[in-house]
Amino acid sequence: MKCLIIYFTGTYNTKYLVEKIRDRLKQEKLFEVDTFSIDRKSLKPNLKGYELIILSYPIYAFNAPIIFDKFVKSLKFIPNQKIIIAKQSGEPIFLNNSSSYTLIRKIKKDKVNLLNEYHFLMPYNIHFRYDDNFIKELFTYNKKLLDIMIYELKNNIVHKVKYNPILAFNTFLFKIQRLGGPVNSCFYKVDYSKCIMCQKCIKQCPINNITLDTKTNKIKFHNKCLMCMRCSFFCPKDAINIGMLQNWKVNGGYNLNRIENDATLNGDYLSKHQSKFFKLFIKPIDKINKLYDKYFSKD
Ligand SMILES: Cc1cc2nc3c(=O)[nH]c(=O)nc-3n(C[C@H](O)[C@H](O)[C@H](O)COP(=O)(O)O)c2cc1C
Ligand code: SF4
Ligand code: SF4
Repeated sequence: MKCLIIYFTGTYNTKYLVEKIRDRLKQEKLFEVDTFSIDRKSLKPNLKGYELIILSYPIYAFNAPIIFDKFVKSLKFIPNQKIIIAKQSGEPIFLNNSSSYTLIRKIKKDKVNLLNEYHFLMPYNIHFRYDDNFIKELFTYNKKLLDIMIYELKNNIVHKVKYNPILAFNTFLFKIQRLGGPVNSCFYKVDYSKCIMCQKCIKQCPINNITLDTKTNKIKFHNKCLMCMRCSFFCPKDAINIGMLQNWKVNGGYNLNRIENDATLNGDYLSKHQSKFFKLFIKPIDKINKLYDKYFSKD
């Protein structure tokens, strides 16, 4: 049996997660797994022959990235094909639940067999940086959630996603990418006192929104920005100003592999940080711990 994971990633957190899902499915010998990353070069994948499709994306302001919604909309799914949604974001609040509504509307039209939806947790690439120890704790959560996903897949356990019109309205209200991307793009600028002209930003932009003006030898931002943060996050000199979001900029990639395998990090961050923001994590993590115990405890 074959599985295809279709994903979009801005700063590679979704890619990291997708690789974990792929490796786990292979390890379980459940599926042969192919992955498909959506970017400027993307042709459409042929969905025939895949028993399971996993759709994976980062949440941007309670929505899926527009590029992801549009791409999935352009696909023709096979009736009865099994679909799992594996979304991920920086925090787990329930307002993120509706980020998949647009996708679900589309895939239901193709009469697919929609299974479950799983919300994984990864570090914020905007607003502020997460502590390595907290990321380690999120990885423990993700590992349990992945175990749950595999268990439910093997045992045909499906819990239907309930439509909530209030959440749908919230998602609609926060469609900031539609305007925010193109408009904010005009305010992006480079600090040439820092820039070393490595052109990493140009090469990496997933939508070709950045070019080099050969006359002035300056970096030019156009108006197709996806707000993915890849350019500013990975600029080696932190030279990109991201306009209205500048105060929320995070610069410098996380070394996720190192954090996951660092035995000196014990992942007990939440027990010591119970302030307002981190409180958001307690209930959702507890819920997954309980479900995990229900499926895997020996009693
Ligand atoms: C424009 C933008 C909006 C975001 N909005 C949210 C949000 O509403 N909730 C959240 O938990 N994380 C939010 N995030 C954080 C990302 O979902 C998170 O860092 C994710 O892991 C990034 O994945 P990627 O590296 O694959 O792009 C946002 C990130 C960006 C760039
Ligand atoms: S990635 Fe940063 S340093 Fe490199 S060209 Fe772009 S702005 Fe300049
Ligand atoms: S300009 Fe930067 S933030 Fe916008 S799509 Fe390109 S890489 Fe992403």
